Amino acid sequence: MLLKDKIAVIYGGGGAIGGATARAFAREGAEIFLAGRTLERLERVAADIRAEGGRASVDVVDAQDQDAVDAHAGRVAKRAGGIDIALNAVSVVHTQGLPMADVGVDQFLHVINANARTNYVTAKAVAPHMAERGGGVILTLTAPGSRITSPGFLGHGVACSAVETFSRLLAVELGHRGIRVICLRSDAIPDAVPLSYTQGLFDDMTRRFGTTTEAWLETHAKQDTLLGRLPRLDQVADYAAFVASDRAGAMTGALANLTCGSVLD
Ligand SMILES: NC(=O)c1ccc[n+]([C@@H]2O[C@H](COP(=O)([O-])OP(=O)(O)OC[C@H]3O[C@@H](n4cnc5c(N)ncnc54)[C@H](OP(=O)(O)O)[C@@H]3O)[C@@H](O)[C@H]2O)c1
Repeated sequence: MLLKDKIAVIYGGGGAIGGATARAFAREGAEIFLAGRTLERLERVAADIRAEGGRASVDVVDAQDQDAVDAHAGRVAKRAGGIDIALNAVSVVHTQGLPMADVGVDQFLHVINANARTNYVTAKAVAPHMAERGGGVILTLTAPGSRITSPGFLGHGVACSAVETFSRLLAVELGHRGIRVICLRSDAIPDAVPLSYTQGLFDDMTRRFGTTTEAWLETHAKQDTLLGRLPRLDQVADYAAFVASDRAGAMTGALANLTCGSVLD
C-alpha cells in the first residue's frame, strides 16, 4: 500500500476529484478527513470508503474561511496525531468563454481571488501540523487555462496561473520543513463533469458556442490532445496517490501534466 497509515485531509472532499482521490488514498491505506460545505456529499464519499473497509471522517468546513480551516486542521491533527497529506479540490463557480467586453472587473477577479484564497488558507493551516511530523505533501489542482489560445478565458487562465505559481513558491517556502508541494494540471475530465460544477460551467459556455458539452468534450479530445482522449477521474486520483506517497519523495515544486497532451511542458 502506497499510503499506509498516512493522515490525509481533502478540502472539497465531496466533489468529483476530491471524492475520487479520497477513495484512491483510502484504498492505499490512508485515513481520510473530508472537508466541504455540504454534509450529504461528504457522507456519500465517506460511506463508499467505509464500505471498502477504509477509514473516513467528515466535517462541514468553508475552505475560504481561515479561522474555520485553522480550527479544523487543529482538530484533525489532535485526533489523528498530525497531518501527512492535504489536497485542495475546492471548486470556484465562475463563467468561461465570455469576451472581455462582457466581463466586469469584479467577475474577472472573483475566480482569481477565490482560488488563491482557498489554496493559501488550507496550505497555511496544514503546514504546521505536517512540519511537526517532519514533513508532508500538499497537492493543488489546476487546468490548462493559462495556456489556452482562444479568447474568453482571462479570469480562469489567470486563476490557473496563480495556483500554479503559488504551488511552486509554496514548495520553496516549505521545503526546509520537509513539505513537498505538487500541482496537478488536468484537462477536462469527462467522467467528472456530471458530478461536478463543471457541468453547469461547460453547459453555459457550449450553449453560447452553439454546441453541447458532450460534443465539445469529444471534439476537444480528438482535435486538441496528443492521445486523442481526455483524462479519467481514476487516472488523476491514482496519480495523486502516487505523488503523495514516499515513492515520489524526490519530487517537489512540480507541475504534473495530466492533460493527455493538450499542452506540452
Ligand atoms: N472537473 C474537471 O474536469 C477539472 C479539470 C481540471 C481541474 N479541475 C479543478 O479541480 C477542482 C475540483 O474540481 P471538481 O470537478 O472536483 O469540482 P466539484 O466536483 O464541483 O467539487 C468541488 C467541491 O468543492 C466544494 N467546495 C466549493 N466551495 C467550497 C468551500 N468554500 N469550502 C469547502 N468546500 C467547497 C464543493 O462542495 P460544497 O459546495 O458542498 O462545499 C464540491 O464538493 C476545481 O478547482 C477545478 O477547477 C477540474
